Amino acid sequence: MTKIISLFNNKGGVGKTTTIFNLSASLAAVGKKVLLIDFDPQCNLSIATIGYDEFADYLERTEDYQYGRTIRAFAQPSLQPTQNAEVYLTQPKYQKNIINNQITTIYGQAIIDVVPGDFWLNSFADTLTVGTDVVQGTSLYRFLIPYLLVENLKKGNKVYDYVLIDLPPSFNTLVRSALYCSDYFLVPCTPDSFSAYCVSLIGEVLPTFIDDWNQGKRRYEVSNRYDKLIPLKGKPKFGGWIFNGFDTKKYTSTGERKEIGADQVHLDKIKATIKNVLFPKLEAISAHQCVPNFISLEPVVKIEDLNVMASEIQKLNVPLKYLSSQTPTIFPSWSLYQKQLMKRMDEQYDLLAQHIINYFIDED
Ligand SMILES: Nc1ncnc2c1ncn2[C@@H]1O[C@H](COP(=O)(O)OP(=O)(O)O)[C@@H](O)[C@H]1O
Ligand SMILES: [Mg+2]
Repeated sequence: MTKIISLFNNKGGVGKTTTIFNLSASLAAVGKKVLLIDFDPQCNLSIATIGYDEFADYLERTEDYQYGRTIRAFAQPSLQPTQNAEVYLTQPKYQKNIINNQITTIYGQAIIDVVPGDFWLNSFADTLTVGTDVVQGTSLYRFLIPYLLVENLKKGNKVYDYVLIDLPPSFNTLVRSALYCSDYFLVPCTPDSFSAYCVSLIGEVLPTFIDDWNQGKRRYEVSNRYDKLIPLKGKPKFGGWIFNGFDTKKYTSTGERKEIGADQVHLDKIKATIKNVLFPKLEAISAHQCVPNFISLEPVVKIEDLNVMASEIQKLNVPLKYLSSQTPTIFPSWSLYQKQLMKRMDEQYDLLAQHIINYFIDED
């Protein structure tokens, strides 16, 4: 059963896109089939995976590709029943090795497919209306585009273990759509006071999203009693949080590596907000169990400040897992410290993948 997972935080720059890019490599490395959907008009995930110049080709609208070869080619015709919705897939640049026009994968037989994003998603977001489409229950399907895309691919025998959706830093209709489609959401946070505040906002907003869906669902069901899909959607579960971009200090006496004092304070603040605000608000949702039993206050993984490696990931379009084998663009080679950090953080991304594999399973 495909699991759809959104990376979500209304704060920007917390590492949603970076996490998806690296997590997909970890999932693929253990043989999982992964689909990445770039549902952010900023298209950072597309640029990170496909490459900046190559991405431009996918946006191009031609006679053959009226809406380009992005998410738009599926989403826009889906709103106009007379037109054919198409899903165009591509693969991460680092996976592609073209030999005699055949695409082979460099890193094993990993399957990572990508649906590129599009700036047009901004206009799309404006056409989705919460009041009529959702609360009135007149067009709930318009809020299920990522899910419908996954179902469309299934018909062509493209079936994935995990679908990871990258989102803009907001609570807009794109984010709502992705959450309504998702089985789980993960929340990356950075060590600052804004992250704790944003976690508290998630607690305020998510129950409203779900309440809106359930109101619409009840109205919709009056005249669509046999619809099997709508009752299953609108039930995203909190899958855990990720502490991203903090600094550590190694204590020479014990050899232990720990976050520096200020980051420890932020970590504790985020945990306190999760305990005192997020959990009570999500647990009050009566329609489904939004906080699964496996969830604890601790971050699922802790990703340290990757420093120049973060920008090298973007420049080379290579995830952390394979970065040490690449020549960095800024130095002649990686330092021992950098290689050790890469190894440690790669283990964290692998742990995140294992968390998903172990816990994001059917409970019923
Ligand atoms: N662990 C990290 N250490 C250092 N820089 C990071 C880390 N994670 C992300 N970054 C950098 O921070 C910026 C924002 O990250 P990004 O993944 O784009 O966040 P978001 O998608 O939440 O906006 C990017 O330039 C990225 O390279
Ligand atoms: Mg992003």
